[in-house]
Amino acid sequence: MGSPPDTSKTTKLERYNSYLRRMSSAKLLAASSKVLFRATLLATVLLIILLTLHYPFSLSYISIFSYSSPSPHRSLLSSFSDSFGPAWDRDVRRSATPRRDAGLSVLVTGAAGFVGSHCSLALKKRGDGVVGLDNFNSYYDPALKRSRQALLTRHAILIVEGDINDSSLLTRLFATYPFTHVLQLAAQAGVRYAAKNPHSYVASNVAGLVSLFEVAAKSADPQPAIVWASSSSVYGLNEKSPFSESDPTDHPASLYAATKKAGEAIAHTYNHIYGLSFTALRFFTVYGPMGRPDMAYFFFTKAILAGKPITVFRIPGGKDVARDFTYIDDVVKGCLGALDTAEKSTGTPGGGPKTGPAQLRVYNLGNTTPVPVVKLVSILEKLLGVRAKKNVVTMPSNGDVPFTHANIRLAARDFGYQPTTDLSTGLQKFVKWYVHYYGIKLKAEAGGGQMAAA
Ligand SMILES: NC(=O)c1ccc[n+]([C@@H]2O[C@H](COP(=O)([O-])OP(=O)(O)OC[C@H]3O[C@@H](n4cnc5c(N)ncnc54)[C@H](O)[C@@H]3O)[C@@H](O)[C@H]2O)c1
Repeated sequence: MGSPPDTSKTTKLERYNSYLRRMSSAKLLAASSKVLFRATLLATVLLIILLTLHYPFSLSYISIFSYSSPSPHRSLLSSFSDSFGPAWDRDVRRSATPRRDAGLSVLVTGAAGFVGSHCSLALKKRGDGVVGLDNFNSYYDPALKRSRQALLTRHAILIVEGDINDSSLLTRLFATYPFTHVLQLAAQAGVRYAAKNPHSYVASNVAGLVSLFEVAAKSADPQPAIVWASSSSVYGLNEKSPFSESDPTDHPASLYAATKKAGEAIAHTYNHIYGLSFTALRFFTVYGPMGRPDMAYFFFTKAILAGKPITVFRIPGGKDVARDFTYIDDVVKGCLGALDTAEKSTGTPGGGPKTGPAQLRVYNLGNTTPVPVVKLVSILEKLLGVRAKKNVVTMPSNGDVPFTHANIRLAARDFGYQPTTDLSTGLQKFVKWYVHYYGIKLKAEAGGGQMAAA
């Protein structure tokens, strides 16, 4: 019989072996966690690079400029101090800096709006610096404003979410970048909505305007030149045609028109006292891709495609209501022409005395060809391939005017404004955008008259 095994030695050996196994698995674990850590780090860095490329502005305040659905006419004095910081400053400067020699740097208010988004893109495309400001109110579908914002973001244009009534935000913007120009388009638009929410017109078109002009006169250094949107509605119930800038504007038919007229008077005051350079542009029924859902051409399209009736107004006596429909690209050219020819303000930053008279201009930006609204409907019918269910009624006194017709001689003379798009061509471009944006397939591209949307 052999001697029994030395258990104490065996146990030691086993303990030693198990120690070695533990050590090597611990090493393996440490090594694999290192690999895992490095891979995670690499993935994070790659993700940050990708996000930065896709969203050129810092992520630090994206949550503040988030896509949360805005409340109707949200608090006008909401403070943005939370978002201020080096990253915010850097992004404002990056977006505002021109990329061409002698380029403009423009603060575009209402940049998520119809005209504002188109103008911002046009400015950026030619190398100017642009920063947008918009409160994203829900007067009409904010999703459309967000999609315009997304488009601007892809073109490296920052839209700061805020209100023109927020003086501290405006002051901060001018302190961050010496904007040479302001394109003031932020406003409560629409004629009929005034019956529902009159105060929103006063808040944006009067109080907001004053707040912006105050900051431009007293805080901005240098004082910017201001080009801003008035409206053809200031001609009100005038009967003389076409409408010229020197015509009286004493009979506004809507509160909207009255606030635009007030804006022109307020601009005069700030020009007179503080030497701010002003150009008021009286737009005539602007339409086109990414347009405003509250305007007839837009909601007619929606209703016609849905097979719903539309109401078309007639003037008492049986005449057709007519509008000088102006295509967005023509208006954009007019806005850029006005910006390019705007002279510097002559005031002393801080609200001191002006050094001389400053520019004060008013221009019509129209198409010069009034078209009856029934004609607009028939063009849409052709383009959509659907017959409209028309309800023709006498126009009530709801703020609308019977016709508009622009004399554009002054804008043509001073900055070569010359509209080139007729209503059929412009509506074709609008319909193309509309069906694409809303994912609608038309059964016929054009001309059918019998066919419906699929
Ligand atoms: N589209 C037209 O046919 C037409 C005709 C005449 C005048 N206008 C004027 O042109 C300008 C632009 O019109 P639009 O058709 O692009 O309208 P829009 O409503 O699409 O654009 C205005 C933008 O301003 C923003 N806004 C409103 N109040 C604001 C505030 N207090 N602070 C910050 N942002 C605010 C809105 O969210 C909106 O995005 C407006 O001043 C309008 O009155 C337009």
